[in-house]
Order: sequence, then C-alpha cells, then structure tokens
Amino acid sequence: MVRTAMTDINAVLVEKILKLKKERNAVILVHNYQLGEVQDIADFVGDSLGLSQNATQTEADVIVFCGVHFMAETAAILCPKMTVLLPDRHAGCPMANMITAKQLRQKKKELPNATVVCYINSTAAVKAESDIGCTSANAVKVVESIDNDEILFVPDQYLGHYASTKTDKKIHLWPGYCPTHVRIQPQDIKQLKRENPRAKAIVHPECRPDVIALADEVASTGGMIRYARRDDVQEMIVGTEIGIIHRLRKENPGKKFIPVSEQAICPNMKLITLEKVLWSLEEMRPQVTVPEATRLKAKAAVDKMLAIV
Ligand code: 13P
Ligand code: SF4
Repeated sequence: MVRTAMTDINAVLVEKILKLKKERNAVILVHNYQLGEVQDIADFVGDSLGLSQNATQTEADVIVFCGVHFMAETAAILCPKMTVLLPDRHAGCPMANMITAKQLRQKKKELPNATVVCYINSTAAVKAESDIGCTSANAVKVVESIDNDEILFVPDQYLGHYASTKTDKKIHLWPGYCPTHVRIQPQDIKQLKRENPRAKAIVHPECRPDVIALADEVASTGGMIRYARRDDVQEMIVGTEIGIIHRLRKENPGKKFIPVSEQAICPNMKLITLEKVLWSLEEMRPQVTVPEATRLKAKAAVDKMLAIV
C-alpha cells in the first residue's frame, strides 16, 4: 500500500512495481531499516520475527525481500516452494558473516554440553548447526525455554550478553557484533537525555551493555514500533538504525522521535532501492536459495523458535 507523497519519478516506479507485483503474484516484505520509499510499497513492514512469521503465512508465488541476505534466506528456508528475491545480492549482514559453520562445529566440540542458540542474523549453514534460533524480540524467552543450563549463543555477543542478564543460565558468547549498533555510544544517550528530559530512551539489544544500562526500554525494532504507540510516550530517543524513524514518525504524527546517532546507518540495508525492486521483479533475480539438506536442518532450528514465540 502506498501511503506517502512521492516525487514524480518514484510515483512512476511505484506504479510499475505494483503492476508487476500483481502479475507475478508477489508479496513485498520490508524490514524496518529500509529506505522510507521502500517501506511505503510494502505489503508488510516489520522486524525479523514478524517478517519470518509473515513469510510462513503468505500464499504468493514470489517474495521480494527488502532487507539483508539472512532475512531472505530465512524466507527461503521457511517457504521452499516460493521464489525469494533479494533486490541487491550484495545486501549482506556483516554480523551474520562473523561465524562460519566450520567455526561453530569446532566450538561445539569444545563445549559438548551446551545447547546452541543462534540469532537469526546468521547464515543458513550456521542455523543448520544450531539447536534453536532466536530474534531480538524473543532471545530471552528462547533461552529460558531451553531445558539446559549451559548455552552457546552465536553470533551476537551483545544480544547474548543482554539475554544473560535476564537468566541464571551460563551463556558462552561468540565475539560477533553489529558494526552499526556499536557506533551508538553512552554519551549519545546521556546528552540527548539532558536535552530532552521528557523523552524515553529505547535501545536495540544489539547495543553495547553500557548503552543498554542507560535505556528506559530495550526492544527489537517491532517492539520499538509498539512502544511508540503508548499514550505515556510522547518523546522517544531511538537507539537503533535510523531507517526506523520514517515509520515511527509516519505512524505517530505529533510525537517526537530523536535518532540517537546519525552514524547509526546500516549501509547494507540501504542498498535496496525502488529501482532495484522493479528490476528484480522484471528479471526475477537475484534469487536466494538454500541447499535442501541445509534447509531442512536450519528449518528445524527456526521452527523450534517459532513454536515458542
Ligand atoms: P530486528 O529483528 O529487531 O528488526 O533486528 C534486525 C537487525 O538486523 C537489527 O540490526
Ligand atoms: Fe546486520 Fe547490523 Fe545491519 Fe542489522 S543493522 S542487518 S545486525 S549489520
């Protein structure tokens, strides 16, 4: 659904995309960090959890995934009969590439008694080596659901650390991190709190612990969207990638949203443009696929997660 005014060029692109989308029986799934004009053509905008759930529910033939590679891969894992398009094949997540399946197999040998929880920001091959997946929205719940007190959490050390503060379980952390969220500094939050004393500070659990310690709330991007709807929240300091500001402002006119840092940009998320979405639907590429043996093992980990959300 198109919901904002656009330039003439964008209007032409959007018209073509919507026409072709219908012809291809495609659905456009868009992450909260995408460019505003890409969010505006979505059938669904959401966080990793919402997007995974949505992928399982759609009856389209084609998913155009406007996000990064692991997200499109998750859709391919969950929907093997559908064609999954990622409009720019270079849109990867550096954190997801901070652990390989080989490295994980080695670590599992060192920690034979640990249950492996993998953040959804990981490759299909890593998911296939894991016992259960999680997203930023349900990491604590997933960890708590496990019938074992020893956990190996990969690849995000900060989400894993955040989960460890909410449970008594022993969590071994893999040293991965998000290069965008580590740019958010405690002094950014402190200064904005001084300047906006009525504002609530909400941060993503990929932020460093010293940033999380200063927040009023910690949430996934979907959790931030829901938090902003509360009547007692009129001003919000937003500690995550700045693409989310578009949706927050659009859905909450009259409220004030303050990005915590103009540096918090994920360049990979910004690779997807309207032009590339159109091209991708025209050419039906780049397609994201997962080898069947890997897909089945990875699906088991993602299904286990989806069963406990
Ligand atoms: P969410 O699932 O909270 O949207 O996070 C995805 C992500 O990549 C955060 O950097
Ligand atoms: Fe990956 Fe960070 Fe970009 Fe999210 S914001 S996709 S974790 S690099």
